[in-house]
Amino acid sequence: MVVSALSDARRRLSGLLLRWYEAHRRDLPWRGVGDAYRVMVSEFMLQQTQVDTVIPYYERFLEAFPDVEALARAPLSAVLKAWEGLGYYARARNLHRAAQEIVSRFGGRMPEDREVVAGLPGFGPYTTAAVLSIAFHQDCAAVDGNVARVLCRVFGIAEEASLPETRARLADLAQALLPRGRAGDYNQALMELGALVCRPKAPACEACPWKGVCQAWASGDPERLPVKARRRERPHREEAVGMVRRRDGRYLIARRPEQGLLGGLWELPGGRREKGETLGDCCVRGVREEVGVEVRAVERFRSVKHAYTHFSVTIHAFCCTYLSGRVRPLRCAEVAWVRPEEMGLYAFPRAHRRLVEGLVGGDEEGLFRLLPVTRDP
Ligand code: ADE
Repeated sequence: MVVSALSDARRRLSGLLLRWYEAHRRDLPWRGVGDAYRVMVSEFMLQQTQVDTVIPYYERFLEAFPDVEALARAPLSAVLKAWEGLGYYARARNLHRAAQEIVSRFGGRMPEDREVVAGLPGFGPYTTAAVLSIAFHQDCAAVDGNVARVLCRVFGIAEEASLPETRARLADLAQALLPRGRAGDYNQALMELGALVCRPKAPACEACPWKGVCQAWASGDPERLPVKARRRERPHREEAVGMVRRRDGRYLIARRPEQGLLGGLWELPGGRREKGETLGDCCVRGVREEVGVEVRAVERFRSVKHAYTHFSVTIHAFCCTYLSGRVRPLRCAEVAWVRPEEMGLYAFPRAHRRLVEGLVGGDEEGLFRLLPVTRDP
């Protein structure tokens, strides 16, 4: 009796949610396509990134790589180029490797076994559940940040959502509410509710299909939940990079090692400033260590700031004159000499893109006049 009352209540909740979704769902390009490859691409892009940002990337990506075979045989450089500006580049490398595995091990068909899918590169619990539910209607609940916020509010869960115990609790709750056979719509409905109604700030509670049962709404202060993780100070670092130009007008760029932050992307060579080091000395040392040549840092060209999730950085770019040595990839995967107008063919992290963009049509000729070596202030 109690059990059936409980399942009736759940059915009622998921019914309200699905009806709301049918009326309010956005018409997004990956919805209703029923193609596991497209679902996979969209879910990789949507990890950490909002729908509006993803849409143009998704469309361009599918034009460049229309199916899993096309993605698998593309060089990583082309995949990173298509991903440029979307950030969190490990997603692109993992997506590429996942496509290669799907082709080499499964003949180009996305496997449907949960354990197997969870073993593919880049498939954590969320992405596994999202792809299996949306592409194959498997009954797996997918809990992302939006879903976690909705559930914490509705069920009055005042625990930090990133803690493993809380995650497990939210996953169990989401699974318990899941209407069998409708998991794809249900998961996307919860995400949609989080994105459109149960927003982090100023939630539109009046429009919520779950208002009647929501504990956060009943408390009168829905924004109180979910409880915020304590924000850590974001450390700041200074880097200096060299713009080393040949007489033919080409600039030296280096490709970062494939492993690690921004792996496989191109950059101006240089490094992180050490304690007590001037920016000019840092630039000279960084160029030497990364690509093996001695340069003189002549004049600061420009500085750009960028914030990553765990740190922020200011990158100072110096016009350099070449002194000696043979260019070779010492602390990078590859080097290239590139004309300013060809820089668009290479994938750069956002901050470096802003630096190399300054070379096109800029007054770099003037900047490369030989000036006396200047010290940093
Ligand atoms: N976020 C992650 N996956 C999504 C999807 N399929 N639709 C909308 N937002 C999402």
